[in-house]
Amino acid sequence: MHVIHTLAELRQALAGSPSAFVPTMGNLHAGHLSLVAQARQFGGLVVASIFVNRLQFAPHEDFDTYPRTLARDCELLQGAGCDIVFAPNESELYPEPQGYKLVPPPDLADLLEGHFRPGFFTGVCTVVLKLFNCVQPAAAVFGKKDYQQLMVISRMVQQLALPIAIIAGETSRAEDGLALSSRNGYLSTSEREEAVWLSRCLRELQAQVLSGRQDWAALETAAMQTLSARGWSPDYIAIRRQADLGEPVPGAPLVVLAAARLGSTRLIDNLELAQTAQTPAGVTD
Ligand code: PAF
Repeated sequence: MHVIHTLAELRQALAGSPSAFVPTMGNLHAGHLSLVAQARQFGGLVVASIFVNRLQFAPHEDFDTYPRTLARDCELLQGAGCDIVFAPNESELYPEPQGYKLVPPPDLADLLEGHFRPGFFTGVCTVVLKLFNCVQPAAAVFGKKDYQQLMVISRMVQQLALPIAIIAGETSRAEDGLALSSRNGYLSTSEREEAVWLSRCLRELQAQVLSGRQDWAALETAAMQTLSARGWSPDYIAIRRQADLGEPVPGAPLVVLAAARLGSTRLIDNLELAQTAQTPAGVTD
């Protein structure tokens, strides 16, 4: 496996070979490695990037403290069968202030995560487009754990006609159901025990919707209250359409999404609803 820090070396190593790409910010866990495994199935070289992207962090967020664990990450990537790690430093990827930015459409990017983290998806799209231009992959794998990010990137690729297949990776979970995340490492022992409640609340919400309830707002409020009563500060718990994250409608495939802070750690998670929401009794399509 080659660990490469400059764009010139990357282009030389790739030499136009087809590749499947897994962009990351490092501090890797089993979830990232499962994305690498999916990239391997695609065929061609597997390229992973490790770059903590300042553009997607607000000034009060954890850019400075985000764990940088390059040596360990490279060991894990080698074990997972990655061929090339692209780990540029900031001055390589942003040699001058990044004045050109890619602003995604507000109807998708300003809700949920984008509402609570203004500018986040502009930072993500800008770096992902730039990384795509560096690697020029045939395919790229993004985890469903960042559901809205996956959707924003897929639309970007579609609308800008980028010749890249976007592959969705399922969320990897710990045994108790907690979605794996680099930020789980910030949790204290007691917070880690409590953290399982985020996925529990989503599962409960999923069960309620699948049982036919359509009082979406009441369900969302009740789920937020459950978390708040346990000491969390929820940003949102939302039932949305899978297609575009719009408000739910009966019969549409749905997804439940949540973001909440436990102590100083902000966690996100989501669950797609296995079946479509039921149409109320007596109503036909
Ligand atoms: O999901 C992430 O780790 C980041 O948002 C990404 C896609 C690597 C862009 O910095």
